[in-house]
Amino acid sequence: MERVFNFSAGPAALPEEVIKIAQKEMLNFNNSGMSVMELSHRSSTYMAVIEEAEANLKKLMNIPDNYSILFMQGGATAQFSVVPLNLMVKKKALYINTGVWSQKAIKEAKKYGEVKVIASSEDKAFSYIPNLDNLSIDETADYLHITSNNTIEGTVFKKLPKTNLPIVSDMSSYILSEEINVSDYGVIYAGAQKNIGPAGVAIVIVRNDLLGKEMPITPVLYGYKASVEEKSMLNTPPTFAIYIAGLVFKWLLELGGIKEMAKINVEKANLLYNFIDSSKLFKSPVKVADRSLMNVPFCLPTEDLDKLFIKQAEAACLTNLKGHRLVGGMRASIYNAMPTKGVQTLVDFMANFEKTNK
Ligand SMILES: Cc1ncc(COP(=O)(O)O)c(C=O)c1O
Repeated sequence: MERVFNFSAGPAALPEEVIKIAQKEMLNFNNSGMSVMELSHRSSTYMAVIEEAEANLKKLMNIPDNYSILFMQGGATAQFSVVPLNLMVKKKALYINTGVWSQKAIKEAKKYGEVKVIASSEDKAFSYIPNLDNLSIDETADYLHITSNNTIEGTVFKKLPKTNLPIVSDMSSYILSEEINVSDYGVIYAGAQKNIGPAGVAIVIVRNDLLGKEMPITPVLYGYKASVEEKSMLNTPPTFAIYIAGLVFKWLLELGGIKEMAKINVEKANLLYNFIDSSKLFKSPVKVADRSLMNVPFCLPTEDLDKLFIKQAEAACLTNLKGHRLVGGMRASIYNAMPTKGVQTLVDFMANFEKTNK
């Protein structure tokens, strides 16, 4: 079978070039006589892998020296669960509620202290990003948490709230998609399985002055400071996932870095949004100004047509276009690894579908 165009929200498509390198190196990595999966995580051969991955991420995102990079486990869910454990010294945190993943993060934080939701878009099914001007921000809180890109609802923050608090961002479906200024954030975290690599590793980027504030009940594996001190090796790290993430970072650097990737991402998203906006059949439920470049939800006039579309698309090797079960309709996740050709093929397919289902 041919490789399909995989529009999954995660685990998502990986760059084909990366998979081919992994395939080539599978049986004998770097003359070690074994695969990466079989290497001791403390061997010099593997240490070179993790160190290179970290250095390349630092280069890609222009991460300043006063930040630490961590490879942790448990995905983004573990990360939003341990943010309060690591940062809630004064037992007070602010959250902006922009979707299902924000809600889950808020629920976890409430276990440890006072949580103030200072803005929400729940009134309109999270189809927009709340106005960030004139927010009432309690500057005595420990941090302000946002979900930069809302994977399920298809919205993205185009600017940040003005505050002196450390901004903590869930960038699971946003990281590496466009340039950001890391210094605007206190903590950035992201599950890998969208724009970074395979499931099993999460990236955490933390400003060094925020280290060492963890509650005594914090599990040893999830304290930022201990993790920094042990260079992400408090226990056996997800070695293969980190190796693949490292290959993805190299792929991005060879492509010209995030600046070049972002240009392609804008081009891809425009192809799809322009078609949807010109269509009489397909609709986007998201406020135009807040549309995500990475996750594009859209729908047809009836659920029956949605089902027919998904079935026919699947048969045409355009897979995983079903919307999240909470939202319905369709969703095309067009992360970095989705080639422009994949989006163009989808748009052509949609145009044909419209012609035959007028
Ligand atoms: C924005 C966001 N946060 C958190 C998660 C949860 O990630 P994980 O499955 O790695 O825990 C997801 C997963 O899709 C997500 O999109």
